[in-house]
Amino acid sequence: MKIASNIKDLKLYLNKERESKKQIGLVPTMGALHAGHISLVRQCVRENDVCVVSIFVNPTQFNDKNDLSTYPRTPEQDYALLEAAGCTYVFAPGEKEMYPEPDTRIFNFGRVAEVMEGKYRPGHFNGVGQIVSKLFDIVQPSKAYFGEKDFQQIAVIRSMVKLLNMKVKIVACPIVREKDGLALSSRNTRLTPELRQKAPLIAHVLQESTTFAQKHSVEETIDFVIDTINKESEMEIEYYEIVDSATLEAVSDWKGSNDPVGCITVYCGKVRLIDNIHYKLS
Ligand code: PAF
Repeated sequence: MKIASNIKDLKLYLNKERESKKQIGLVPTMGALHAGHISLVRQCVRENDVCVVSIFVNPTQFNDKNDLSTYPRTPEQDYALLEAAGCTYVFAPGEKEMYPEPDTRIFNFGRVAEVMEGKYRPGHFNGVGQIVSKLFDIVQPSKAYFGEKDFQQIAVIRSMVKLLNMKVKIVACPIVREKDGLALSSRNTRLTPELRQKAPLIAHVLQESTTFAQKHSVEETIDFVIDTINKESEMEIEYYEIVDSATLEAVSDWKGSNDPVGCITVYCGKVRLIDNIHYKLS
């Protein structure tokens, strides 16, 4: 495994790979890697000749300075995990390398970027678009891998690929969970032991709501999730919405969508956790 910290070196390596007709896959990350990231890396390794993993805590997608400064950074541990997973190249640039000049691009990704996270984290998806478009441009991957925990992010990136006529195929990979159901996230390390005990409630209530939904309306199901989680001290829902998986438009009737997905954001103490679940109505 080779580690490149600048664009020039990475491009030299990748151009050689392309000359030998190797197919390149990319896993963009912000580091602090866990088993969820590693499952993306393993899939990328299986489906491509060359697997590039980028590690860059992208400042333009943080709308909270404190969140950016406290974001976990574990480079040595990340490199060891990536080596063991079969990664070919790590791209770990500094901020000046990715943003030699401030990125002033403003994207219009449409409705998919305006709802939910778009409403509560203004500018977040624009920042994601800035960095992911730069990474696609540098690496020119055939496929790029993203985790379904960030369900809306995948919809936004697909919209960007269409908007900018990019050739990359976006591969969505299933959420990886702890044994107790908590969706893996780099932010989980910020939970105190007490909050870590409480956090799996999110996944449990979402799972329970799929049974509840069989005999209740969309509105009642939303209320069930919000009321059950908000009853727990130190747990506060920012939003829970049930949307169509393709358009991310709110679903008001179960018959209104082939694939309704419930997307949740919960403050567990000060830690903002997200999760989602697909509803299959029988
Ligand atoms: O999902 C993430 O970790 C980030 O949003 C991404 C896609 C690496 C862009 O910084």
